[in-house]
Formats: sequence, structure tokens, C-alpha cells
Amino acid sequence: MSKKNAETRQIKIILLGESGVGKTCIINRYFENKFSADTESTLGSYSTTKTIVKNKIKYIVDIWDTTGQEKYHSITNLYIKGSNIVILVYSIDSKSTFDKLNYWYDSVKDKIEGDDYVLAVVGSKYDLFESEEVPDEEAKSWADSIGAIFQFTSAKSNSGIDLLFENLARKYFNPNFDYKKQ
Ligand code: GTP
Repeated sequence: MSKKNAETRQIKIILLGESGVGKTCIINRYFENKFSADTESTLGSYSTTKTIVKNKIKYIVDIWDTTGQEKYHSITNLYIKGSNIVILVYSIDSKSTFDKLNYWYDSVKDKIEGDDYVLAVVGSKYDLFESEEVPDEEAKSWADSIGAIFQFTSAKSNSGIDLLFENLARKYFNPNFDYKKQ
């Protein structure tokens, strides 16, 4: 197949979760390998686009960073539709951000028909484990119950983020992929 005729597909990834849980920092760490201790809260929703080629297919990947601010929830909800990969983020030092993931998960089920998308639950800011408020088992078993990949990450100490995106890609390209067997 010539490059000109190469098939092109679109992949939409969205990060959801309360304000301050670290969504922007996860994206910045993954794509620019940088971390800032004083990011501004995201106003609205923004996408970054990356292109990858796999098996001669060109994938245009749009990663949507959304704001967790309550006043923008209805706008954030508009961006969920059409997502192929959904990343639900809480901060391990804040139980309320974990509890709120039920709200975001309900929004996902409401906005995306069927279950043809890959889901992850992320326990962010793992470097703050000494202040952890969410029992690991509770978070992992909730992720299991909704069929999500579970991953701890720390954008600050750069851990878990590459693995998160690797496992999401594996699952996207192979729905039978079981991240626990890696
Ligand atoms: P909104 O845009 O308001 O929805 O917030 P957000 O979820 O995008 O959070 P953001 O990435 O802006 O991070 C919020 C704060 O948490 C910033 O001060 C970051 O420096 C801090 N932060 C993000 N990731 C980590 C982490 O892994 N560890 C620690 N200790 N702090 C982090």
C-alpha cells in the first residue's frame, strides 16, 4: 500500500476527574517529560494531537485534557462522547476525588453508547503514599468491577505513566489483553 493510500483512523482519549488530581501533569509528563509543581487549573477542555503508525495504519490520537472544576462539569461532559479511551483519575491523598469517580463513570456510560471503549482508573500522585486516603484494594476492586485497567502514577517522580499508556494501547489493539498478566 502506498503512503498516499494508507488507512487513517482517529483515536480519542479523554482524562476525567476532579480539579487538582493531576490530569494535566500526567499528559505533560507523558508527552513532554516535564513536571510543574504549580500548574494552572485547566479552563475548559484542550486536546493535543499525536500521530502513530501501526501495521501500516495511521492513527491520529487526540488526547483531551478536561477541567475538573465543578462549574465546568456540564461542558466537560460534552467532550466525553466519541471517546475510545477514557482515563478516570483520582488523587491517592484525597478520598473525595476517588468517591467522585462514580459521577464521572456514570457520565461516561451516559455519553458513550455500548462498551466499545477502553477504560482506566488512575491513582495519581503516588509519591504522596504516606498521605494515602484510599485503600489500594478498594480502588483496585472498583476498577475491576467496571472492567478498567488500574494504575498508580506519579507525574512528579515519573512513575507508572508510560506503563499506563502502554497498557491502554495494548488493550485498545487487543481487547483480550489482561494487564494483570504482564
Ligand atoms: P484541573 O485542571 O483543575 O482539573 O486539575 P488537574 O487534574 O489537571 O491537575 P494538575 O495536573 O493541574 O495538578 C494539580 C496540582 O497537583 C499541581 O500543583 C501539580 O503540581 C500537582 N501534581 C500533579 N501531579 C502530581 C504528582 O504526581 N505528585 C505530586 N506530589 N503533585 C502532583
